[in-house]
Amino acid sequence: MRKSVLITGCSHGGAGNQLAKEYCSRGLHVFATARNIEAMNDLDLPGITRLELDVTNIESIRTARDQVKSILGVNTGLDLLVNNAGIWSTTPALDHELSEIRSIFETNVFGMMAMVQEFMPLLTLSQDACIVNVGSIGGLMPYAFGSTYNASKAAVHSYSDTLRLELRPLGIQVITVILGGVKTNIFTRPPKPLPDNSYYRPIEAIFRGVRSGQVHKATPRDKFAREFVDATLRPSTPRHLALAFGSIVVPWVTWLVPGFLINFRIVSNFGAGAVRIPREAS
Ligand SMILES: NC(=O)c1ccc[n+]([C@@H]2O[C@H](COP(=O)([O-])OP(=O)(O)OC[C@H]3O[C@@H](n4cnc5c(N)ncnc54)[C@H](OP(=O)(O)O)[C@@H]3O)[C@@H](O)[C@H]2O)c1
Repeated sequence: MRKSVLITGCSHGGAGNQLAKEYCSRGLHVFATARNIEAMNDLDLPGITRLELDVTNIESIRTARDQVKSILGVNTGLDLLVNNAGIWSTTPALDHELSEIRSIFETNVFGMMAMVQEFMPLLTLSQDACIVNVGSIGGLMPYAFGSTYNASKAAVHSYSDTLRLELRPLGIQVITVILGGVKTNIFTRPPKPLPDNSYYRPIEAIFRGVRSGQVHKATPRDKFAREFVDATLRPSTPRHLALAFGSIVVPWVTWLVPGFLINFRIVSNFGAGAVRIPREAS
């Protein structure tokens, strides 16, 4: 029987959108979801069912799950759940509003947890179910102004690695994706401006460079999607899947290189190593 996959966060120009096209090209029935259905107009293709789904809204998750259930039919399960939806943020830890921090965790962490709980009845109906949770190299290696995002992705890694143990008795596999740079909308959104009283005003140009400095190195979306889909459809799936720019080097570096050298390198990368911010700036 044809396999099925549900992907969260499939807006045009993003990683999830490209994954939807790639899974579809391999003959899977794809449930492409996004919080705004019009953001998936380019996915109006045979083999793809588009559904509205906001991972921070439990009613929205349940409605989408019931739609998937009725489309798949009685006793047919969902084979793959790809928890891709996520928000990237680059904001100094000192300047980040708690409400924004909570909202990032709602999407990147709690939304993922809710998806797993709510879709479990459909996954257990599949003989070959697999959950794929999208983490980030930011969850392994720190970079300045990524504290909230990196903390949320470290939580994703830890959650997924524990979930794998708990789902083994149910025969459901869990893959933790350690994703590096992929050319998506993530890089096209400018960071929020620094507040007037930010300590980092004197190095605002360095702060802005965190986003723009990475885009040209990032992996093209189609290459990323091919490798992602290849790996997740293999009979023997990996526990960890390192994909895209920086994803192979970063885990080795964090394992082999002493922490102080990593910190020095990262700080000097951003040019912040030479900067001392006058405390009166706030
Ligand atoms: N691109 C990279 O270099 C990179 C690196 C490491 C990890 N990642 C991870 O890869 C995943 C995909 O990111 P991307 O690069 O494709 O970024 P993107 O282009 O910004 O796409 C993110 C997707 O998540 C969706 N989303 C946000 N909040 C949501 C919510 N509450 N409910 C449902 N969907 C929601 C967005 O929807 P809207 O369009 O409505 O905002 C969008 O469809 C994320 O988990 C990201 O953290 C990306």
